[in-house]
Amino acid sequence: MARLVKKEFKGPLEIKIGTKSIWICMCGLSINQPFCDDSHEKTADEEDNKTYAYEKEGDRTEVKNWEVAY
Ligand code: FES
Repeated sequence: MARLVKKEFKGPLEIKIGTKSIWICMCGLSINQPFCDDSHEKTADEEDNKTYAYEKEGDRTEVKNWEVAY
């Protein structure tokens, strides 16, 4: 089974608890969800207005004609 989830963030969300910070993955690529593992660095050269698909191994392809069927 596969699931497509569209994410537009390119970095984590910082949550402060007292003097500590926790970094929550907002890009969807971390293998340590819900925490950031710096996998978002793969998104640094993504072009605006394009959609990409990432494989578990880290390979990336551009998705064209992204459609959602209702
Ligand atoms: S925000 Fe997803 S890995 Fe850092």
